[in-house]
Amino acid sequence: EKGGYEYFMAKEIDEQPRAVADTLLGRHSETGEMTLDEVRLTDQDLRDVDKVFIVACGTSYHAGQVAKYAIEHWTRIPCEVELASEFRYRDPVLDRSTLVVAISQSGETMDTLMALRHAKEQKARVLAICNTNGSTIPRESDAVLYTHGGPEIAVASTKAFLTQLTACYLVGLHLAQVRGVMFADEVGAVLERLNQMPAKIRAVLDAMGPVRELAVDLAAAKSVLFIGRHVGYPVALEGALKLKELAYMHAEGFAAGELKHGPISLIEPGTPVVCVVPSPRGRSVLRDKLVSNIQEVRARGARTIVIAEEGDEAVVPFADHVIFVPPTPTLLAPLVTTVPLQVLACEIASARGHDVDQPRNLAKSVTVE
Ligand code: F6R
Repeated sequence: EKGGYEYFMAKEIDEQPRAVADTLLGRHSETGEMTLDEVRLTDQDLRDVDKVFIVACGTSYHAGQVAKYAIEHWTRIPCEVELASEFRYRDPVLDRSTLVVAISQSGETMDTLMALRHAKEQKARVLAICNTNGSTIPRESDAVLYTHGGPEIAVASTKAFLTQLTACYLVGLHLAQVRGVMFADEVGAVLERLNQMPAKIRAVLDAMGPVRELAVDLAAAKSVLFIGRHVGYPVALEGALKLKELAYMHAEGFAAGELKHGPISLIEPGTPVVCVVPSPRGRSVLRDKLVSNIQEVRARGARTIVIAEEGDEAVVPFADHVIFVPPTPTLLAPLVTTVPLQVLACEIASARGHDVDQPRNLAKSVTVE
């Protein structure tokens, strides 16, 4: 059933182009209408939304962090992302014009479910993004967008993450259109870019040989740091989470701008730092700032592993290793920049002799609070 792969995780990483394509399939009609799976919300309800809260845990929370950038950019509605376990217990301000988006692969995560129930008690509208048909979270939501990742067997989430990102983009575009902030042709243009993503993810997967070699090299590291800006920041967090859970190594992700406010002290000669560089064609100020951050860590002896856009040769002098990904619009970039980090974690864990699919102390579905 692993279909020739050594691990389910490797198989699921490789399935990502298909999973993203399936999640996009048939969602958008010629007239620009988006199809949710179960909708107990009217367009008027969506027009009345004045605040979006995304609640989720772990990897799904990182998808939500990426979504915040896209949703605010496209819809101009304030959007906050919160860990489900924190949201529920701090008495958040919610009412019927709040849209709460619950993201969950399993649909059974108790922290997320309790956050959703709390939101409903406060009369907020709830939309679920979920990979498991008929599970509890979509059953209790007002609307559902299913991710079509197919069953995820490995405990560490990979294809679910990419499909959650895809679903979040769709929700953002739909909200923007219903509210008249984006016209059908503008939404169509972004959808066209989204439809190009499966081929780009495939291209990244086809170039993972050097990452596998690097993984063997990094397997003895004491700690690995990850830095990013904008949507690259949650990607850095996700890269670090994967490494912690699979390789049992100290790993931490930072907003690159925060380095000088403390974490840069962690850098010793040889500390690996994975740097997620924004596209030079998009928000070039951010890209230039990240390149300065690479120079800062390198000046302190870090070994830099740089994820950058093909053609961005200017990063090469500052990189001990470069992993190029295809040019992608800034907001969609996590669909490609996350992939090498998944492969890196899988391979480092394997090199350290761990059970990649069943890391210690973890369960696939966390049904206790
Ligand atoms: C990490 C991982 C977990 C889950 C989290 C939420 O690889 O798999 O962090 O993302 O437990 O699970 P779901 O999405 O099922 O609610």
